[in-house]
Amino acid sequence: MRKGSPIGSSTRLVSSPRELLVTTALPYANGPLHLGHLLESIQADIWVRSLRLAGHRVSFVCADDAHGTPIMLKAETEGIRPETLIERMQAEHERDLGRFTISFDHYHTTHSPENQELVLAFYRHLEQGGHLCIRTIRQMYDPKARLFLPDRYIRGACPRCKAPDQYGDSCENCGASYDPTDLIDPRSSLTGLPPEARETEHVFVRLEDFKDLLQTFVHQGQLDRGVQRKLDEWLASGLKDWDITRDAPYFGFPIPNRPEQYFYVWLDAPIGYLASFKWLAHKHPELDFGHYLKKDSPTELYHFIGKDIIYFHGLFWPALLAASNFRLPTSLWVHGFLTVGGQKMSKSRGTFLTACEFAERFPPEALRYYFALKLGAGIEDIDLNLDDLIQRFNGDLVGKLVNLAARSAPFLGRGSIGHLSATLPEPELYAAFLREREAIVAAYEAREYAGALRLILDLADRANQYFANAAPWKVAQTDPEQARATATQTLNFFRLLAGYLKPVLPDLTQRIESWLDAPITHWSELDDPLLDRPIAPYAPLLTRLPTRSNPPSLPPSTTAEDTAVTDIKETIDMDCFNRLDLRVARILTAERVEGSQKLIRLTVSLGTEERTVFAGIQAHYAPEDLVGRLTVVVANLAPRKMRFGTSEAMVLAANDGTTGPFLLAPDAGAEAGMIVR
Ligand code: 2FM
Ligand code: ZN
Repeated sequence: MRKGSPIGSSTRLVSSPRELLVTTALPYANGPLHLGHLLESIQADIWVRSLRLAGHRVSFVCADDAHGTPIMLKAETEGIRPETLIERMQAEHERDLGRFTISFDHYHTTHSPENQELVLAFYRHLEQGGHLCIRTIRQMYDPKARLFLPDRYIRGACPRCKAPDQYGDSCENCGASYDPTDLIDPRSSLTGLPPEARETEHVFVRLEDFKDLLQTFVHQGQLDRGVQRKLDEWLASGLKDWDITRDAPYFGFPIPNRPEQYFYVWLDAPIGYLASFKWLAHKHPELDFGHYLKKDSPTELYHFIGKDIIYFHGLFWPALLAASNFRLPTSLWVHGFLTVGGQKMSKSRGTFLTACEFAERFPPEALRYYFALKLGAGIEDIDLNLDDLIQRFNGDLVGKLVNLAARSAPFLGRGSIGHLSATLPEPELYAAFLREREAIVAAYEAREYAGALRLILDLADRANQYFANAAPWKVAQTDPEQARATATQTLNFFRLLAGYLKPVLPDLTQRIESWLDAPITHWSELDDPLLDRPIAPYAPLLTRLPTRSNPPSLPPSTTAEDTAVTDIKETIDMDCFNRLDLRVARILTAERVEGSQKLIRLTVSLGTEERTVFAGIQAHYAPEDLVGRLTVVVANLAPRKMRFGTSEAMVLAANDGTTGPFLLAPDAGAEAGMIVR
């Protein structure tokens, strides 16, 4: 039921729907997802969700990258077949991605018949186009482990700077890159033995054949400047032939007519993007694989990747696509690395967090929100600070956003069901909030999430300011309709902001949509405010995260409500004090308790939630004078069953045993929910 004329206009938002295929890099199936993976999945998911809210058709796919030596060796160590390992890993990866609400339409594996079929077709095209050549190379072989060693499994001194213990492909000390055969005193990291150089015949892709095409691709104008520069450097320095062969034993797809040889994992991995999409298209007849992949396709193709795999996606992958007469990516959306405390995540420093570990300690949306706060379109690294994350979650989401709902709900009516006013007291202000949408949507699309959130948080400040100025608690008793109107306006701001945040916080927004019984599936659904309709009772939407030095639980203790002035009690330490959770609370309702000379029943708002409190303050206070006041409560005291009901917090009051009690009140500026310490 919507009343009144629409305030906003959605004409700008319904540009003709685009069709996009979006991917994130395929995680290797040999270990758990960590926060680095999530940085990318969350970045991509926010983008995808914002485009879907604008009405575009987005297919968002990924898969596990299931082949290669490390996976083969890990399975061997566990005494299982690689197929068993990758199946388990895929299930774990999908579970973790689900926890962080990454909205993939399909999650595949590169070890699949769809991928094998595509890989063979790509290979045939390369062969028929004359882009393959066969060369004999010298490859490091571990005679004890009986396998050809990938560069990363060989260590020795750098041939240039002589730094010891460097990888077989590049030196971490001087940055030189070289062949493993150049290392001084090389050793296999599997057995510690010096590897032998053995001759073997490999198939190579002649990348130079694609040089012109790659030049055009790099300069088509969509790539980030930094990415373009990097690719330009590589193009200028000449493209080396690309070895796509690996010798048995290897876990991968066998190369036709080359016994004991397999396709290199990096050949079949990006093809896995297409295999995943092909599987999806097969299930959804309205998605046409050929239409998305054909050379002049009007659809768009984007790959979200980290800056370490630009070479593969900016050179190899477009060359492969071109050889098969497929379209090229529209662009590559490249991000930086995730650091913790300014350094690479590291197991030994304890800064390496898996997705699962994070989800066990924090709400996953806290990470989505934090990454969004930090993400722009550039390739700078993103630093994670858990204290900062907790603070932003509590301050912005609980304190500024959800607080709007918690503060306004009590004025929408007593009893179980409230009701929204028929009109907004300030429709122009709602329209002003709505006009910000264009800039917010544009920021999402430009992957400038930090910018989008700045705009949204500004609006949240303005909404809180509006509520504070209108002060509905002052008129709640005398003019409840005016208080209701203020609350209706505030609640509509809240819904608008929740809608703007939906790409970042889909779960929270979903809870808000269900509470308000008003789905948001398109930005334009925010045009009309919710008016003249019933509203279900408010239930807390988010809980404040305990700060790390301030754990939340406190065992039940006796209370000191009626203490006369006595000697100062025994000294306690800071830890002991820190266990108390004192909060500013706003008194929403107050009534005498029938049958009691002392008690007043209060409903107080702690910002994010409401509590019932019985306070022995009748002697000094008339209930009607208390409504709207701020006071201080002990928020983590175990609930106490009393004759008249359960008291869920304790109001602080000063008392000398004869003249009190006098309620404590914070100075102006304090808000419900603030911590008192
Ligand atoms: O770097 C990696 O983790 C690779 N597994 C990414 C593959 S992305 C794509 F090409 F498949
Ligand atoms: Zn070196």
